[in-house]
Amino acid sequence: MKVIVCKNYEEVSKESAKIVADVMKKKPNAILGLATGSTPEGMYAELAKMNAAGEIDFKDITTVNLDEYYPISPDNDQSYRYFMNKNLFDKVNIDKSRTNVPKGDAPDGEKEAERYEAYVRSLGGADIQVLGIGRNGHIAFNEPDEELVPVTHVTSLTEDTIDANARFFASAADVPTKALTMGMGTILSAKKIIIIATGANKHDAVAQMLKGTCTTKCPASFLNLHDDVVLVCDEAAYNG
Ligand code: F6R
Repeated sequence: MKVIVCKNYEEVSKESAKIVADVMKKKPNAILGLATGSTPEGMYAELAKMNAAGEIDFKDITTVNLDEYYPISPDNDQSYRYFMNKNLFDKVNIDKSRTNVPKGDAPDGEKEAERYEAYVRSLGGADIQVLGIGRNGHIAFNEPDEELVPVTHVTSLTEDTIDANARFFASAADVPTKALTMGMGTILSAKKIIIIATGANKHDAVAQMLKGTCTTKCPASFLNLHDDVVLVCDEAAYNG
């Protein structure tokens, strides 16, 4: 795994945007695998700036997002679809019909997971997949467990996650209890992976991943099976 340690969040955002932009410049119809969460917000802002400056073009780009709550309406301001529209898609010249987020309003979650997996596979996987990392080493909604799931699937949110997210909803009862998420194999099918981590609270997960071994207790450690992964992190995430 290649590691790029930056001074701060701003540098991490610029560096990671540059890596994504390089893929877009080499392949104007690239498939971008995207993540939500607070870590990539700065990177999306940088990409939008580059697009406005005419340095990169989203016209022929296709995107596939990692995950979405289930069930949730795309209009709900807590949905990952809403997040992506707000942070990137509404700010760049992308064709929205080529932006893909698992459908949180699909009538049958299992069928939607199957459809999404088949779709990502039909594209041949992402040309570059952007990932954040959870404090516990999760990637997408693949949480530490005895076993990990290779394909896109419906997963139940832990009580902890529901409690943590309750502040964003009217009440804990409004937090979706499930999510649709790419599986470990879906993520690893990307040709290139960039994982972004900032802040000292990510240090333990980053350190576990950088040991170079694989454990289901830290799903991000499975990125060690891939031969083109770049970690872009700040000093706090790297050093603790
Ligand atoms: C987001 C996702 C999550 C986040 C992770 C880190 O699509 O799948 O795994 O990447 O929870 O979130 P932040 O960046 O908010 O610390």
